Amino acid sequence: MIENLLHSMTVQEKAGQLNLMTGSMDVTGSKASEGMEAKVRAGECGGVFNVFTPEATRQLQEIAMKSRLKIPLLFGYDVIHGHRTIFPIPLGLSSSWNTELIQKTAHVAATEAAADGLHWTYSPMVDISHDARWGRVAEGAGEDPWLGSQIARSMVEGYQGKDLSAVDSVAACVKHFALYGAVTAGRDYNTVDMSRRSMEETYFPPYRAAVNAGARTVMTSFNDIDGVPATGNRWLLTDILRNEWGFKGLVVTDYSAIEEMIQHSTTADGEQAAQQALHAGVDMDMVSELFLKYLPDLLATGRVTEEELDHAVRRVLILKRDLGLFRDPFSRSDEARAKKELFSDAHRALALQAARESIVLLKNDGATLPLKKSPGTIALIGPLAASKRDMLGCWAAAGNDNLAASPLDGVLRSLGDGASVLHARGSDVDDSEHVRLGGSFFPQLDPRGSEEMLVEADKIAAKADTIVLVLGESWEMNGEAASRADIRLPDCQRALASRMLATGKKCILVVMSGRPLDLTWESARFPAIVEAWALGTEGGYALADVLFGDFAPVGKLTMSFPRAVGQLPMTYRAKNTGRPANDKIRYTSKYIDVPNEPLYPFGHGLTYGSFEYGAVNVDSPTMQPGGKVTVSAEIKNTSDKAATETLQLYLRDVVSFVTRPLKELRGYQRVTLQPGEEKNVRFAIDDSLLSFPGPDFNPMVEPGEFEAMVGPNSAQVKGVKFNRLK
Ligand code: NOJ
Repeated sequence: MIENLLHSMTVQEKAGQLNLMTGSMDVTGSKASEGMEAKVRAGECGGVFNVFTPEATRQLQEIAMKSRLKIPLLFGYDVIHGHRTIFPIPLGLSSSWNTELIQKTAHVAATEAAADGLHWTYSPMVDISHDARWGRVAEGAGEDPWLGSQIARSMVEGYQGKDLSAVDSVAACVKHFALYGAVTAGRDYNTVDMSRRSMEETYFPPYRAAVNAGARTVMTSFNDIDGVPATGNRWLLTDILRNEWGFKGLVVTDYSAIEEMIQHSTTADGEQAAQQALHAGVDMDMVSELFLKYLPDLLATGRVTEEELDHAVRRVLILKRDLGLFRDPFSRSDEARAKKELFSDAHRALALQAARESIVLLKNDGATLPLKKSPGTIALIGPLAASKRDMLGCWAAAGNDNLAASPLDGVLRSLGDGASVLHARGSDVDDSEHVRLGGSFFPQLDPRGSEEMLVEADKIAAKADTIVLVLGESWEMNGEAASRADIRLPDCQRALASRMLATGKKCILVVMSGRPLDLTWESARFPAIVEAWALGTEGGYALADVLFGDFAPVGKLTMSFPRAVGQLPMTYRAKNTGRPANDKIRYTSKYIDVPNEPLYPFGHGLTYGSFEYGAVNVDSPTMQPGGKVTVSAEIKNTSDKAATETLQLYLRDVVSFVTRPLKELRGYQRVTLQPGEEKNVRFAIDDSLLSFPGPDFNPMVEPGEFEAMVGPNSAQVKGVKFNRLK
């Protein structure tokens, strides 16, 4: 059927199938598409994004059904962490270390997206990043390739389900291929320069895991790699992705990325850019419209071959077929399903659970938290304390701010009628000179001015017994095009924090952010700090559950929190160097002004309860090739309540033919222990966990000594050694 269709298509219609246009129900880039309806009617548009709802998609699909060949349109959208029901931002969700839960959130997102007319989500974003300056870390799963790979797989499975044509499945799109998280200096859209070894060890694994999980589409990244833009990079898109990894699906560019190759200065004009992108392995052109404009002529003059063109068109048609669109182009434009599925109670219940599990308790001296529900007065202070929009975070798809629970909503609901809860804004999110002067970030400044807000906060604080300060980033301060060179709290928020601390009252800090912030100052002053990301629709309720102990936090960081922005990029997977840091020896690898270690390491997260880690043992000092050893760790709940902990397994290849990280996550287990309960937690280790890219970058296991380490985070581990025999 596909081949017949292909034969009946004109060159213009073929180019049309490769043309992906943006609608205007959302704006996700700086260029708009024009003349959409006419192009759809003429068969010059293969897909549309930023259009959703059963009505809007049906209307456009009806036009497509009037085109000569009646090829249905593909509807895409950035359903990144939920569609109408919004889950925590991906960085938050990854902190749950709960891939089953993450898969469920992706499935719910797919169910809602598909009920709202969509076929295709531009997710998961699996870019590993070690640089919190990059605003898009909010959209990813953090710094670790192994955990990132598990999460990538769960998301793909959650979106696509078992049957792509089902009305609750959408096609996943792995992005941004590739290495986008390593943009120089954390500045968005910047250049990437990287060794092949880093690609293979650190950055490629999650893309590959998503491809292996069956992801149907891949999106190119904006950056160049070794001087060649990803969108025109044949080595990347064909040699690696298709030939080496066996990817059979569709490659779409990022927003106008073909055209941007002109700015990258690797192509002189649009025509050359189109030729280069198609030749590299791109199938669909997002927004540039250069395929539509130039492919017919490029074909006529022999600069692209019919075979190249047909390959790309075939992939678009196959995706449409597998989504069931030829059978019923309107199956996902169904008002009744939309009514039933969107923002349903069951979806909101999952969002609440996801939000609870995403929260990370960074610090809790003297069991400051949880708070008692009564008696007393609580003041919720800060520019984010009553914000609903900021709870949804960046890339909030079709989420409705008004339906989101702010921290204030959550606390009010938790405490019920008799509660005494006060609120003051206290400061703007950011009123610095740079922000005032414009740029692309315009936080709404409160007309009252900073002093007036501080005075109001003082008055409110004076009436309270406990202050919960909610500070951090507004939703526009992270995500795309939101790199920050300074990742501390903005000065106006710091001033508010100082005033509140000066009251001498019990003062708790809740941080909402889409990235690890530098919380060194806050950490030295607040007894308790809760990292609450942007938790989504039910975020305020989840936060209140944690603050009042109705839910004990379980989240663990998936990205290190630095002590200073100058430590970036940073990862716990650091190498030893030839001169490992030693405080007593000057000529070693360290800073003279801050320690090398992060403020809060990868894997860190506290709960209401405490544990004692005992010895780590291995059942055999040697491991046969192809065999396994079992590492066990003793853990005891030393608190007086049931408590949950995620034990983490790290491995180190002690001597290797190339330098290797001092530790790499290779397993984790979540356990719940009753007061006083002890448990022996076991991790089976086989060759698959010891393997790494060999001299030719194929996986290999080197015989010799390995160290297995177990602990509550990447910094506090106990180890045991074993020998992998030849
Ligand atoms: C640009 C972003 O980089 C990408 O993640 C997104 O999917 C597209 N715009 C479409 O909105």
